[in-house]
Amino acid sequence: MKAMREEIINIQNQAINQILEATSLAQLDEIRVTYLGRSGKLTALTKSMKDLAPEQKKEIGILINQSITTINQQLAEQKNIFTDSAHEWFDPTVPGIKPSLGHTHLVTQAINEISGIFEKIGFTRVRYPEVEWDWYAFESLNMPKEHPARDAWETFFVDHPIDPKMGKMVLTPHTSSGQVREMQRVKTPPIRMINIAKCYRRQADISHVPMFHQFEGLVIDRGIAITHLKGTLDFFAKTFFGEGRKIRLRPYHFQFTEPSFEVDISCGLCEGRGCSLCKAGWLELGGAGMVHPNVLTAGGIDPQKYTGFAFGWGVERTYMMKSGLKIDDIRLLYSANLKFLSQF
Ligand code: PHE
Repeated sequence: MKAMREEIINIQNQAINQILEATSLAQLDEIRVTYLGRSGKLTALTKSMKDLAPEQKKEIGILINQSITTINQQLAEQKNIFTDSAHEWFDPTVPGIKPSLGHTHLVTQAINEISGIFEKIGFTRVRYPEVEWDWYAFESLNMPKEHPARDAWETFFVDHPIDPKMGKMVLTPHTSSGQVREMQRVKTPPIRMINIAKCYRRQADISHVPMFHQFEGLVIDRGIAITHLKGTLDFFAKTFFGEGRKIRLRPYHFQFTEPSFEVDISCGLCEGRGCSLCKAGWLELGGAGMVHPNVLTAGGIDPQKYTGFAFGWGVERTYMMKSGLKIDDIRLLYSANLKFLSQF
C-alpha cells in the first residue's frame, strides 16, 4: 500500500518535472501520452488496482485521480505559455500593418496653398473678426443703410444692441469686411493683404452652404492700376491652376470698387473650346476691381494720393475649379463623411 502511494507521488513528480522542462507543444503531448495515455504510467497503476481490497481501492483511486488532475493542470498551464503571443514565432521581415494617418481637410489644404502663393509675392496673411459690425461689412464699403446692393449678401444678423456708429452686428457675409480694418491697421500704404476667412450667408442648397470661405486680396499704394490687378491674378492663376491657364476681366458692378470686374479663368478641361463643365470655355472665379475712393476715405487713406485694387473669391469654388472635381453636393465638404473626405 505504502509502496503504491509512493509510486503515485513519484510518477506525479516525474511528470511535473518533465512538463516544466518541455520546450514545445509536441513534447507536452508526448508527456501526456507517457503518463495518461491508454498504456501510460498512471493508467497502468489504475489497472493494477483490481487486486486491492475495497477500502484500499478507494484510497488509491482517489490518489490516482488527484495526480491525473494535477498533471492535466500542469500540462494546460505550460501549453498556455507556449501559445502566449510572446512565445509565438515572430517573423521580423513580414511587412507591418500601416497605421491609418489623418490629414488636413481639403479646404485647409486649399487655404494653405492659396496663402502660400500670395505670400511669395509679398502679401501678408491677416484675419479679422467673423462677428463684425455692419459698418465694416457694408457701410464703409460704400453701401449706406438700406442700400439695395446689400441684398446680394444674404446676411445673418446677431441679436445685439445697435451701435450708433457701427450699426448692427452681423456674421461677415464676405471677406471685404477686412478691407477697411486693414487700412486702419496699416494706416500708411503700401498695403498688401490676403485675408482668408469664413463667410456666412443665409443659403443652403446643393451648391451653397451657410458657411463657406473666401480669400480677399487688397493692394494699396501710389500709382496702383488695373494692370497690377491683372498681373497679380495672372500670377495666381498660373501658379494655382497651371501654366496654360488664362484669366480675363469682365465688366461688372460692386459698390466698393470702380471699375468692377468679374474674373474668369479659361477652362482646364476643354481649353477654351467649351464643354459641359464651363459653357463657352470660361469659368467664373469671382469679383475684383479698383478700390472705390469712398472706401479709401472710410479707411483714412487719401484717394488723391493712393489707389488700390481688391479681389474676393470663394475658396471652395476656386479649389473645385482647379481639380475639375464635380462634387454633386457642396454640403458633402462639411459633412463628417470620412469615406468622402479621405479621398483628398
Ligand atoms: N466681396 C465680393 C463678394 O463677396 C467680392 C469682391 C471682393 C469684389 C473685392 C470686388 C472686390 O462677392
